[in-house]
Amino acid sequence: MTADSSKPAIAVLGSINMDLVTTTEQRPAPGETVLGTGFTMVPGGKGANQAIAAQRAGGAVDFLGAVGDDVFADELRGVLSDSGVDTGRLRTVAGPSGIAAIVVDSGGENSIIVVGGANTTMTGLTDEDLAVIAAADILLCQLEIPVETVVAAVMHASANETVVILNPSPAQHLMADLWAHVDVAVVNSGEAKQLGSDLDPVAHLVVTHGADGATYRGPNGRELSQPSPPVEAIDTTGAGDTFTGALAAAWHHGPQTALAWACTAGALATTTLGASSSIPTRDRIEAALPTE
Ligand code: RIB
Repeated sequence: MTADSSKPAIAVLGSINMDLVTTTEQRPAPGETVLGTGFTMVPGGKGANQAIAAQRAGGAVDFLGAVGDDVFADELRGVLSDSGVDTGRLRTVAGPSGIAAIVVDSGGENSIIVVGGANTTMTGLTDEDLAVIAAADILLCQLEIPVETVVAAVMHASANETVVILNPSPAQHLMADLWAHVDVAVVNSGEAKQLGSDLDPVAHLVVTHGADGATYRGPNGRELSQPSPPVEAIDTTGAGDTFTGALAAAWHHGPQTALAWACTAGALATTTLGASSSIPTRDRIEAALPTE
């Protein structure tokens, strides 16, 4: 990674998928067939989306993950490198890349099924991966790759004073000891409910509330609440990832500023169809930031 003291070095460990996106008036109920209004393929995956969001918001990002050797691989690799993300630690493995089947309804809400493909081969970290994590200012992870690899990365980051930001999504209960090594957890309100007291040992807890913004609780009982700017949402896919990536890129400014950046970036991401395609640049975020 190129050293630039003005940009936080962020190692993102996670998934990268090709999103197969169908749009429809109403998402089908079980057993129901509905007619769609459109179809498109857009690179996504929680890891890749957060990496691109962090890079566009001003970070210097290394992506640690895997693509397959199929028709999607070049485009997936390209979307990261075109955004300026360092792909030196992106593996190419035999077999299919990860995909996500996504249905977006006319209200902008989605349903998503992920088939992990190459992401499931991330069962260990190489010495080079560990070196990137140890040298980074921030490690940012989600849970779309094997959980034991996330645990190993978090422990290694914590031992090397790399700040750990974990977005435990899709939510699952993790070993209790892990949470004390997580500096910042980012969850949506459903995940916060599902994980409950698991999150108590985390120093900084950020909960997103969709269009209603986000809340924060930190050390010494500090609490913050940040509204989202009003926007016309057409697709919420990747909005949480954009929020999390922007939060990571702005974290060195402190929670209050980071929340404002994250809410603004997340809101802007809902105004365009698709995940990686909707992630705003630093200039767009700055222009839309709330004025005090
Ligand atoms: O968070 C949105 C992402 O979830 C999509 O891009 C899809 O690939 C799944 O990982």
